Amino acid sequence: MSSRLNILYNRKPCYDIVFSSDFQELAGELAALEIENRKICVVTDSHVSALYGEEIMGILEGKCSKSVLFTFPAGEENKTLDTVRGLYTFLIGEKFDRRDLLIALGGGVVGDLTGFAAATYLRGIDFVQIPTTLLAQADSAIGGKTGVDFDGYKNMVGAFYMPRLVYMNVKTLKTLDDRQFFSGFAEIMKHGLIKDALFYEWLLDHMYEICDREEETLLEMVERSCTIKKLVVEKDPLEKGDRALLNFGHTIGHAIEKAVNFTLTHGECVTLGAVAAAFISWKHEWLSMEEYYEIRDMFVPFNLPISIENIDPQEVLRLTRSDKKMEGDSIKFVLLKKVGKALIDRTVTDEDILNAISEIHYVEDDE
Ligand code: GLY
Repeated sequence: MSSRLNILYNRKPCYDIVFSSDFQELAGELAALEIENRKICVVTDSHVSALYGEEIMGILEGKCSKSVLFTFPAGEENKTLDTVRGLYTFLIGEKFDRRDLLIALGGGVVGDLTGFAAATYLRGIDFVQIPTTLLAQADSAIGGKTGVDFDGYKNMVGAFYMPRLVYMNVKTLKTLDDRQFFSGFAEIMKHGLIKDALFYEWLLDHMYEICDREEETLLEMVERSCTIKKLVVEKDPLEKGDRALLNFGHTIGHAIEKAVNFTLTHGECVTLGAVAAAFISWKHEWLSMEEYYEIRDMFVPFNLPISIENIDPQEVLRLTRSDKKMEGDSIKFVLLKKVGKALIDRTVTDEDILNAISEIHYVEDDE
């Protein structure tokens, strides 16, 4: 049995998120979007195409006027305008017009890129998200952020553009390798830390079930996490204020991601950034020492790093200051007032940041 959440945009119902353990209800959900006379292009990457491409194309068979598959090579390095250009050319070749629809089948790269192509092709066509990674289910498929990387800057070019439907099948999380699964888990933990202390405790209590990827636990975890994100994005869909709270861990996290040349996953870098931000929150005397160490150590059983070797703290500081989250000369830093309550702080100094970077910087003792 599936469950669903409806996401409001400007206080009006906008799209549903369906939570399921299979793809059985996908055809019915798409039928509600009146697809019978529309063409559908399923956009995916080489990795996900091999796993679910055939199944999804089979579901579409006979349900719409034509269905085609566009596959691009997997990897963040392909989240570019060049790939979008390839997709535009393909859609033009297939004579896609404004009534037609794209389906993003895959993780964050596929979802963000397809959403951006949907937002811009013919000034906007409908799209559906079928996120297949934990990162995409917990975070990137919800809230309408779309975009591509540009000149080494992540998500530098993009648009806010809402999908018509998000369909999540948590069984797809079972085919993820451990590193990718736990990378997505970092965003789930973030949601508990910034907004919901009870959910944070629930995550602690269900550590073993989560690590074993038990289906019922995954369903509850993803739905509760999406409910938190729903409340944030409905209040501030275009990130003029509180939506920035979702950037907890991302300010120093993005800087580390760049400093290590994307050799760590996004979630691993967000974890390091979250530990650094929790450390600053402790130094601001908002978190107690015990709370800081509990948050830090909470990431360990989920295979997420709480320290990193071989970084240049000055470089990480420089990259932190050049991140999109700068406003004028001050950084919009997301800190924890307490567990389950985040706020945006503009008083964090370079010294605070350097101290936090030293906290997560592992330096081997010579002796
Ligand atoms: N990933 C953060 C947001 O959707 O705003």
